[in-house]
Amino acid sequence: MIMPNTIDMKKPTQAPATASEQHVPRPVQLVKISAVGTAVPPGLLTNEDLTKIVDTTDEWIRTRTGIVQRHVVAKGVASSDLGAEAAKQALSRAGVAPTDIELIIVATITPDMIFPSTACLVQHKIGAKGAWGFDLNAACSGFLYALQTGVQFIASGVHKKVLVIGADIMTSITDYQDRNTCVLFGDAAGAVLLEGSSSADDGCFIDFLHEVDGSGGHLLQLPAGGSLNPASHETVEKRMHYLRQDGPTVFKFATLKMSEICNRLLARNGLTGADVDVFIPHQANKRIIDAAAQRIGAAPDRVIINIDQFGNTTAATVPMAMNTALEQGKLKKGDLVLIGTMGAGLTSGAALLRWG
Ligand code: UT7
Repeated sequence: MIMPNTIDMKKPTQAPATASEQHVPRPVQLVKISAVGTAVPPGLLTNEDLTKIVDTTDEWIRTRTGIVQRHVVAKGVASSDLGAEAAKQALSRAGVAPTDIELIIVATITPDMIFPSTACLVQHKIGAKGAWGFDLNAACSGFLYALQTGVQFIASGVHKKVLVIGADIMTSITDYQDRNTCVLFGDAAGAVLLEGSSSADDGCFIDFLHEVDGSGGHLLQLPAGGSLNPASHETVEKRMHYLRQDGPTVFKFATLKMSEICNRLLARNGLTGADVDVFIPHQANKRIIDAAAQRIGAAPDRVIINIDQFGNTTAATVPMAMNTALEQGKLKKGDLVLIGTMGAGLTSGAALLRWG
């Protein structure tokens, strides 16, 4: 938990001369998002297109999910390509050179390959010479978990500039013979640059709260391709390299859990939904978002929704929605921002921050 009110900002921080000095304890540093970038592939898959692939209708998809279209990559485009593009946009918006980045964290469930990590591939593609990095898998909560991880590295004084990326090519694991799931997902990436903040007015993270419940792991999973079910003719024939979901059960979990974890985070900071200027929820289903916003008490005009345009892009939804909020002029300096997520795992998470 980061307590901005208890920090003596006059106290100078001792920056290390070299990386080898990183073990030196330092006072906690406030952390802010200093730029957002996104990458959306030009290809489109509309509801009308899907009616030609599976037994569905535009009306069913719109009313049950809120989705109108999703963006899809061309063959050969990988998560590291979208992640690098989003990272480059964030860096250019912040006026920061790639060589100034010390750490890259990529949240993804669709890495280019099992190894090397997508973070290594992004590091090379953006020219972040000297940076280190790793991937983090928490499905639809991945970006939020990566965000807290990145924040800790700056708050503890270990690093000054961290890139946090959410990138997923969901079409690479979507079964276009399964109408229950294939209408939901799209491809995209989003990135934020994290830097130290001079004061709460300059923007800062306030608090995070996360939870996992592995007893629900079977409800949303990619069954094969890992150590349990390595790739074989059988796993391919049984379509086990595509994601599977028990939609209605995950729906129930999502509608309750996203609001519950957000309300717990607000309560322990002495806040309510009425204090929230901007609510950025994971974009899995408009009905889930509406239910969560109502339970939190966040007014509809303060809720960011772009699922109609992009579908569920898994680790990319939160930075993509931040970008939408900025483009629509809904996210301004000084705003209290609440982020809520839930996804496979089952994972859930929430974050509170003051936008700078
Ligand atoms: O981000 C990761 C976490 N994931 C989620 O949060 C997703 C959570 N789940 C959902 O969003 C919803 O459960 C879905 C959108 C996936 C499904 O909506 P639902 O209202 O829960 O529908 P359902 O699965 O209960 O299915 C209702 C009916 C079924 O037909 P019958 O059995 O009533 O005849 C389905 O076969 O709708 C049918 N159906 C469809 N019909 C037309 C399912 N998919 C489709 C489709 N088009 N694409």
